[in-house]
Amino acid sequence: MSDQPRTLVTCALPYANGPIHLGHMVEHIQADIFVRAARMQGERIDFVCADDSHGTPIMLRAEREGITPGQLIDRIWHEHRADLADFGVAYDHYSTTNSEANRELTHRIWHALVARGATDARGVRQFYDPAKGMFLPDRYIKGECPNCGAADQYGDSCEVCGATYSPTDLRNPRSVISGATPELRESIHHFVRLGTFENELRAWLDDRRAAGGLQPEVLNKLAEWFGEGLRDWDVSRDAPYFGFEIPDAPGKFFYVWVDAPIGYLAAFRELCEHRGEPEAFVEFLRPGPHARMVHFVGKDIIYFHTLFWPAMLMGAGLRTPDAVYVHGFLTVGGEKMSKSRGTFVNARTYLAHLDPDYLRYYLATMLGPTLVDLDLDLKAFEERVNSHLVGKFVNLASRCAGFIHRHFDGRLADALPEPEAGDYAEAVAQLARVRQLYAARDYAQAMRRIVEVVDRANEYVAARAPWAIAKDEARRAELHIVCTQAIALFRLLACHLKPVIPATIARAESFLAEPGGFARFEAADVPPLGRRIAPFEALMTRIDPKAIAAMIEASKDSLDDPPPAAAPSAQATPVDPLAPRPPRTAAEGHSATITIDDFAKIDLRIARIVEAEAVPEADKLLRLVLDLGSERRQVFAGIKSAYDPATLVGRLTVVVANLAPRKMRFGISEGMVLAASDERAGPFLLAPDAGAEPGMRVK
Ligand code: MSP
Ligand code: ZN
Repeated sequence: MSDQPRTLVTCALPYANGPIHLGHMVEHIQADIFVRAARMQGERIDFVCADDSHGTPIMLRAEREGITPGQLIDRIWHEHRADLADFGVAYDHYSTTNSEANRELTHRIWHALVARGATDARGVRQFYDPAKGMFLPDRYIKGECPNCGAADQYGDSCEVCGATYSPTDLRNPRSVISGATPELRESIHHFVRLGTFENELRAWLDDRRAAGGLQPEVLNKLAEWFGEGLRDWDVSRDAPYFGFEIPDAPGKFFYVWVDAPIGYLAAFRELCEHRGEPEAFVEFLRPGPHARMVHFVGKDIIYFHTLFWPAMLMGAGLRTPDAVYVHGFLTVGGEKMSKSRGTFVNARTYLAHLDPDYLRYYLATMLGPTLVDLDLDLKAFEERVNSHLVGKFVNLASRCAGFIHRHFDGRLADALPEPEAGDYAEAVAQLARVRQLYAARDYAQAMRRIVEVVDRANEYVAARAPWAIAKDEARRAELHIVCTQAIALFRLLACHLKPVIPATIARAESFLAEPGGFARFEAADVPPLGRRIAPFEALMTRIDPKAIAAMIEASKDSLDDPPPAAAPSAQATPVDPLAPRPPRTAAEGHSATITIDDFAKIDLRIARIVEAEAVPEADKLLRLVLDLGSERRQVFAGIKSAYDPATLVGRLTVVVANLAPRKMRFGISEGMVLAASDERAGPFLLAPDAGAEPGMRVK
């Protein structure tokens, strides 16, 4: 055991500026299946992830919500961790890049790069927002496309004609944050000269080509990038920035993509320290075959993981990635996930309606070792799960378990005759291939093979018809054999499905009285003869198409279309305070239950509207001044379309009094008034019955 290499497996660190959605889940589920299967093969695996907690979008979002970045990333961290755990993703440790361990490692790697002469500093001219007082990332600048003239295009590319350009080419540029016209200003930036590592990177690539660890598509991409020449990498950002300050460079911060991958190592270091074995981390960092580092990432971040990240590690003389496994993107119904269609489904919304094992299985049937995109076809999802898992797999046990209890006191037969014993051995041999398919990340093939074995087992049961044999007292021994064989095959299949649907298989393990659960695939190589099993209970119910429809309905949000990956668009414009605010929780759809204590956290008060006026710069907003009895508050409410401000003055309504204040373009909003609406009509402001007074608590 101890001379076995120790493998660190990671997923890309989700940004802490929004909720986990089903797109992210592709990666976490893919890696979790890999890890669980490898452990069932007896491998030593550590599995870590973290939130990517730095960068401009996080800083601006916190500001908009009127909280500190620290408060924002803490809240999101709790949500992300719960989402992933509830999907059965079994991280040994889930950290954040905003940690002391990460700061220290980032400094260490930076100092090593500086010492090697691989860094550089020089002036860069960039757009600056004079109103906001900050340099603007490309995605925070909009203007007219220099190519086709389309209005409202981002600073890096045009969504209308597809042209790419630099923000200085835009016509009539403006800052998305303040609306001001940006100015070009020069500032010193720090660079990592990637070219320093060209030979080492090429050698790393050749090693990976020989030893595996990079897919052919990725190797081709890399050859292309080498052909174009490795450009210097701009690794600094000017204050204000939420991140780590660069040592000896006041006001300069590491670009989020510097400390993000280092976060893999920081998370692992924390894990080793929590376990009381800090030396294991030091050992791990040392290059050599005693350990392995494996990253699962999406196809949009290949460059970062196969060039920038190895180069940083090379600069510091540390272990480089042994494998970077790249997956494609999730589409829903053949199209990009969309908030207006309700196909941009957050993990929490899914969990409020459907069993996580359904999605884990469906994705397993779609995942192969290539970079192709995966489609979540909702009809196929429903049919495949209901047919394969409920109709074939669970049914194999449910149709035979009753006979074992009714006629044999819950005990399986003591021996299997031929042909059953031979058939069992053949199924074991067929499923042995499944173990290799997991290791090769070809889960689609693995699931196909499993379904073949289930089909064979069900054919056996159908041909032997235990329900018919059971009618004949004289054929009890035969009945016992047939049902024992069916349960034994079910157990063998359950063991091989465990990496994919762990929660369902945990229930199967109780039914099978499996001591300690299946720790290894070999556990099922011999049938459980003579064993007493537990009464059968439903292991999994069929997907109800109504639950899928409800999930899509709960995900519909026409006011808030998805920002492009890592882009700030949705955050930079003032948000209607009445619109559901991300992250959407299950409670905003329906279904999720909360306790009375949860409800008591919301301080609802009666308020009198004493002033009301339109906000000229905003289509939807009215500025209200509310009297809460003991104090007055300013609140921006998205009710302009439905109310003439003059008619509101003097009336009573309900306000959330303890909502964190939010800074908006027009001032601070210090609460939220309540109103009802749906796609047909609204908003309709809430009003109390006569007698209620400003300041009264609503409970
Ligand atoms: N924070 C960076 C990663 C830093 S790793 C040192 C990041 N974050 S992300 O939240 O935008 O994406 C996290 C992962 O989810 C990435 O691997 C990305 O490819 C993946 N996906 C995001 N949307 C996805 C789909 N729609 N489909 C499949 N994977 C998707 O990038
Ligand atoms: Zn254009």
